[in-house]
Amino acid sequence: MGAPAHVAGAIDRVRVAIMGLRGRGEDHIHGFGSLSNVEIAALCDIDDNVMAQRLHQVQKVGFQPETYSDVRKLLENKTIDAVSICDAPSLARAHRHMGHAGRQGCLRRKAVLVQSFACCNFK
Ligand SMILES: NC(=O)c1ccc[n+]([C@@H]2O[C@H](COP(=O)([O-])OP(=O)(O)OC[C@H]3O[C@@H](n4cnc5c(N)ncnc54)[C@H](O)[C@@H]3O)[C@@H](O)[C@H]2O)c1
Repeated sequence: MGAPAHVAGAIDRVRVAIMGLRGRGEDHIHGFGSLSNVEIAALCDIDDNVMAQRLHQVQKVGFQPETYSDVRKLLENKTIDAVSICDAPSLARAHRHMGHAGRQGCLRRKAVLVQSFACCNFK
């Protein structure tokens, strides 16, 4: 008996959400947007202007993401497989907020990528 040519599975198409859209978030949009098996399914930012710009960019390449200003609402969305967290440019906020969002994402069984520094200096 031969192996099936194609086995349908959860990784056929990964629905990704990106949170924090200005700097690194834009890079993540380009990165994820260039992968054939990834759909940019949601965007999240507290800044309406940044959201409008990124939504336009993402729609131009064919995605129709849902938009959120509150990451807690985003994480409640059961159709999202993975969350890329790129907010909080200050280290203190990064530890507090990104860590919390990352933990909550894991608890909801999502793959989580947190774009943050591992340390602030070499001491
Ligand atoms: N810029 C870099 O080269 C770089 C490299 C490595 C790591 N990082 C880390 O990546 C993260 C993002 O850096 P950046 O340079 O893209 O910052 P940025 O200020 O350019 O972008 C952050 C975005 O997050 C949004 N945001 C802030 N709080 C939010 C919240 N509660 N919910 C949703 N959106 C929120 C802001 O409106 C903004 O659009 C930081 O933690 C930074 O330390 C940055």
